[in-house]
Amino acid sequence: MIPLHNQALLLSCRIAGTLLCHINPAGWRTPTIATVARSAIHSTASKRFLPSQRVKPIAAQPIGSALQKSCSVPQHLCTRQHETVDPYVLLEGELRHIYQDIREEIELATNHPELGRIATYYFDGQGKALRPMITILMAKALHSDRPITKGQRQIAMISEMIHTASLVHDDVIDQSFARRGKPSVNVLWNQQQVAQAGDYILAVVSMMLARLQHNDVTLILSEILADLVQGELMQLDTKETENERFAHYFARSYRKTASLIANSLKAVAVLTGVGERTAEISFQYGRNLGLAFQLVDDLLDFVSSAEAMGKPAAVDLKLGLATAPVLFACEQFPELNAMIVRRFRGEGDTERAYELVHRSEGLEQTRFLARKHCAEARRLASQFDQSPYQHALVVVCDFVLNRMK
Ligand code: FPP
Ligand code: MG
Repeated sequence: MIPLHNQALLLSCRIAGTLLCHINPAGWRTPTIATVARSAIHSTASKRFLPSQRVKPIAAQPIGSALQKSCSVPQHLCTRQHETVDPYVLLEGELRHIYQDIREEIELATNHPELGRIATYYFDGQGKALRPMITILMAKALHSDRPITKGQRQIAMISEMIHTASLVHDDVIDQSFARRGKPSVNVLWNQQQVAQAGDYILAVVSMMLARLQHNDVTLILSEILADLVQGELMQLDTKETENERFAHYFARSYRKTASLIANSLKAVAVLTGVGERTAEISFQYGRNLGLAFQLVDDLLDFVSSAEAMGKPAAVDLKLGLATAPVLFACEQFPELNAMIVRRFRGEGDTERAYELVHRSEGLEQTRFLARKHCAEARRLASQFDQSPYQHALVVVCDFVLNRMK
């Protein structure tokens, strides 16, 4: 017999889990869903799952492909079987030349050397290649007995190219000064050049897509572009009520981050010729992983350093953005409401909001939510046939959750 308080605990987590998992692709569209899931997270019962320690600033670490290096908690607490599967090691052959191949695609398509230089600037091999890694893992998980096809690899490259094109534009919009530990592209070239280079990467993506000659795949990957632009524009809106803000935050996170991962995985599944159900599981796995990734990103913006991230930290407040840690903190410190509405433009707003977030449970609650999405991604990954690649899809969830940059 399970004691009553444990039943309540299980129930509240099941409610949160279900709501977090079985929602439409854009995710968290309605305030009701956001409210109920959030209240489940806030309930006394589910708080037992929150980490007992407050989130601490994370020390700088070198980029390491091995997952062990990316785990910010003691080794024995980093989820099971890390010792057995490192996705980057598993896919070493497939990933080794991925940046070089992307650079070649871009350079071959232009005879304008400066355009080539700007457009390839971020493909220097210093990125995590997270999107190609997950896309190839999914391709292998769906057909572990076969080498990946050229088309599958092209989707992995396209995914990274769309991501990078969006970062090139984003760095102009955010007036960033560093990315991946070096001056951001807008520091070295002017806005006109950078905007053209971002568009140019997308032009090369279009050519690669056309060569695939697969209408469904083209449609799926085009959706990412529409989502990215809309997600970026949504950042300019400010919602009045708490419910609207949460719904808006999750819709924006889906469009800005999760759509790219979810649709890249769906595209590779469709190209592989799996059925609709498997393609949907691939999509949902990517959606949950992507939402967790964005939640962790928003958390790191508060707890990590610029040195560790290789890009400016604590920028979201300065950009006027209220992300999950602030939205949660609002419940404990209602004075944040007015700051959110004026987009932290008042005298001393960013410093005060930063302090209140650190004093609140917002960081723990954000991590808790990221953990819920990772748990769901793990559950979805477990539905594929067992193989080292399927297992690596599970391991990637811990990588996303424990990442430091
Ligand atoms: C990084 O966010 C930015 C994105 C994930 C998407 C940006 C999308 C656009 C600029 C729309 C245009 C898209 C294309 C494909 C041309 P961030 O600023 O929160 O993260 P950061 O700290 O890494 O800069
Ligand atoms: Mg930015």
